[in-house]
Amino acid sequence: MANLAWTRRHILSLSDFQPAEYDTVLQTAASFQEVLSRRTKKVPTLQGQVVANLFFEPSTRTRNSFELAAKRLSADTLNFAPGTSSLTKGETILDTAKTYLDMGTDIMVVRHREAGVPLAIANEMDRLQSRVGVFNAGDGQHEHPSQALLDLFTVCTLLNAEKPQLSLLEGKKIAIVGDILHSRVARSNIWSLTASGAEVHLAAPPTLLPKQFADFVKAEHQPDHQDMPLDRKLFLHWSLEPALEKADFVMTLRLQRERMTQHLLPSLREYHQRFGITHARLKHCQPDVKVLHPGPVNRGVEISSELMDDPQFSLISQQVTSGVAVRMALLYLMGSGKG
Ligand code: CP
Repeated sequence: MANLAWTRRHILSLSDFQPAEYDTVLQTAASFQEVLSRRTKKVPTLQGQVVANLFFEPSTRTRNSFELAAKRLSADTLNFAPGTSSLTKGETILDTAKTYLDMGTDIMVVRHREAGVPLAIANEMDRLQSRVGVFNAGDGQHEHPSQALLDLFTVCTLLNAEKPQLSLLEGKKIAIVGDILHSRVARSNIWSLTASGAEVHLAAPPTLLPKQFADFVKAEHQPDHQDMPLDRKLFLHWSLEPALEKADFVMTLRLQRERMTQHLLPSLREYHQRFGITHARLKHCQPDVKVLHPGPVNRGVEISSELMDDPQFSLISQQVTSGVAVRMALLYLMGSGKG
């Protein structure tokens, strides 16, 4: 295992991640990927530590992937299901988190449909002077850091399996297509991919990609991290073709109908005709283009079923597989960075 310095106790956002931190995650994940290829896929790294999955919103990939990652690191795991918890009796989220703290939890992995809940729990853990690390596993429309980091790992290992690093994406063109307005995955990916020096092209109908999104990087930039490079290359398109033209990677996003409070689209059929990714549409891209999707997928809406299942182009299975190694790396780094 690479012996790399790590000082972050909570991981809530990628907005202030530094290039060295991305490389630390990528290299640590590569080591764990090797562990996962062995016959015995378990290491004693987090033996005696407790990882609690506090998922207040449904999840298949993220929750199970964090649980498996924790188990592969020999941690004890606790899983919280809101419907059968004391939340139904009126307990608050912070009191729920405090209960897990009192049981000896070391790392809390938190998902919630409202932005800011993982931050509120992290602040409460700090106020209580605990050493618990809080991981944002997706909060509202804000961020989904582990998804963006596993996406980064997936594309970087494709470019160099031995030594995945951020700089491999410099000069690459990456299109992010779909429901960008509601997407925490897009927001986290914009941070990581633009930090690499890649050109990131967003494409969606105007209702799902408002013009003011152009100010996203500027608006969210945190003034206390002035050493962040601001020459990030982010482009907006309200049609698909300019984003796909010579793209190296195409990331499609799920239409989040559960978050759409008004009619933002004429019909799913028309959306697929204008923005759905298909084999025919990939002809605009580089010949060796690859397609990603964070899942879950609306088959035949944001991506055709045939393309989703085509291993020549689709990295969707690799994304899920990479998720375990990347989350092992994140839990390992958080477990080692408590100071
Ligand atoms: N990509 C993702 O977050 O999927 P889940 O909602 O299944 O965790």
